[in-house]
Amino acid sequence: MYKLIDGKAHSRCLREQIADEVKEYKRSLGRDIGLAVVLVGNDGASQVYVRNKIKACEEVGIKSFAYYLPETASEQEVEELVCELAENDAVHGILVQLPLPKGLDAEKILSLIPVDKDVDGFSESNMGSLCMNKPCLVACTPNGIMKMLEREGIQLKGKNAVVVGRSNIVGKPMAMLLLNADATVTVCHSKTVGIKEICSSADILVAAVGRAKFITSDMVKEGAVVIDVGMNRDEDGKLCGDVDFEGVKDKCSFITPVPGGVGPMTITMLLYNTLIAAKRRG
Ligand code: GUN
Repeated sequence: MYKLIDGKAHSRCLREQIADEVKEYKRSLGRDIGLAVVLVGNDGASQVYVRNKIKACEEVGIKSFAYYLPETASEQEVEELVCELAENDAVHGILVQLPLPKGLDAEKILSLIPVDKDVDGFSESNMGSLCMNKPCLVACTPNGIMKMLEREGIQLKGKNAVVVGRSNIVGKPMAMLLLNADATVTVCHSKTVGIKEICSSADILVAAVGRAKFITSDMVKEGAVVIDVGMNRDEDGKLCGDVDFEGVKDKCSFITPVPGGVGPMTITMLLYNTLIAAKRRG
């Protein structure tokens, strides 16, 4: 019998704790905590994500500053906005929603976010610190997964962890976090040979490939913990993850659903990172 990891329930609990800490920060320092969110263009999914992030800020008492720039915004306009936010003391965290429209240099724009306001944890400095297991702002999705594993009491030390996907946003930081937690980590990707066998050896399997129902039952070991980062549409247009949930669930000890698994935790960790960034500044 598998246990469903309820990301919504974990999120609710953590957001209550964050709200208490935000209140305490305001009470003791007499000022708000601020998060700036920048959305450029009309990407539908990004609009939904940004709306949810702003709503979540309200829920925990973080002041949000939303900036909506048109698809036609120039590189200079976006860079100038980020530089202004970097200087603004009311802003503790800056998030530039990805992907940016074609023609904009995402790497350059993100590099303008000061390390201590990089609440996405995407900067080279924060990623480097994560690699070296030093305190830093950690990318929200993998950090949210670690929080859920911890709250479920799932031990990682000495376990075989397999991460499928090597993106800078999820796969790479996920692998580092698992390694820092003493798991033995393998990262698979599109050029990996023997991916089925490797996945089948996983005690902890994290799927972050962006392909609907990519992880099938024959790729999962009996008793594995399966974490699904995917957010795709299946052939009927229904929301689904990277894992064939129905086919896989009965082999798992724990599994995350889509939706309601990893997704809510990503936003919760953004709130958490914003709180940490504010507290560090004082
Ligand atoms: N696009 C998809 N996920 C993310 C995220 O976690 N942060 C940002 N900034 N953009 C994203």
